Amino acid sequence: METAKSLRVRVWRGGESGYWAEYAVAARDNQTVLDVVTEIQRRHEPSLAYRFACRVGVCGSCAMTVNGQPRWTCRTHVRKVVHDGQLTIEPLRNLPRIKDLVCDLEPFIDTWQRAGAIFQGRSDRNDPPQKVDPESISRKQADAALQCINCGVCYSACDVVYWNRRYLGPAALNRVWTLLNDERHSEHQGTFNKAFSRDGCSSCHSHGNCARFCPVELSPASSIAGLKKMAFRGYKARLAHE
Ligand code: SF4
Ligand code: SF4
Ligand code: FES
Repeated sequence: METAKSLRVRVWRGGESGYWAEYAVAARDNQTVLDVVTEIQRRHEPSLAYRFACRVGVCGSCAMTVNGQPRWTCRTHVRKVVHDGQLTIEPLRNLPRIKDLVCDLEPFIDTWQRAGAIFQGRSDRNDPPQKVDPESISRKQADAALQCINCGVCYSACDVVYWNRRYLGPAALNRVWTLLNDERHSEHQGTFNKAFSRDGCSSCHSHGNCARFCPVELSPASSIAGLKKMAFRGYKARLAHE
């Protein structure tokens, strides 16, 4: 933990090609990285582009790379990440850069579609709500992987995504795990087939960066391990007993 009166902040300006701009920002108590970016935009560089919405760790829109690591900036205190009074802030990695600290999230969002990670219910609005046993193993497994805020931090932290942009990635596969453990989902086999297609969960190298950096402490790596185990045990056999 470090304190300094002034922070030297390097910020990426531009798109895929650009340059590093340096700013001096006053160091304050309980200052977050998003506070620093906001101060730069308000006091030094009005044209600086960046994203945020809730400022309280709910919307997932403020993720950036801070001193080389992906972070949700509204909940990242400067004192925890600053090195020698310096911060380097750039967009999330593994995604196209649009302008300054804003990246294009479309390839990340697209992974949900490609992974079959879209919920499709068995009933319609006229049916009574389907009962789910909260104590069942499958429900507990699904519950442990919920609460993703779609921030893209895990996608940015994943080396396999870096090498292969077709890889479905940790967030979409974590979502698949919740669906395959959800008895209300009607497309189990279709979701399974997509998640195990080329560039699906068998491409995961299990090095765990996704779990290490997920700000809401999910473990996509564990979900993917569960998917692999599911395949090993014979998913069709499991379906036959449902
Ligand atoms: S465990 Fe798998 S999904 Fe997670 S960061 Fe590593 S390769 Fe990517
Ligand atoms: S799994 Fe965690 S790191 Fe990945 S998108 Fe969801 S909240 Fe963000
Ligand atoms: S601004 Fe919403 S999570 Fe950071």
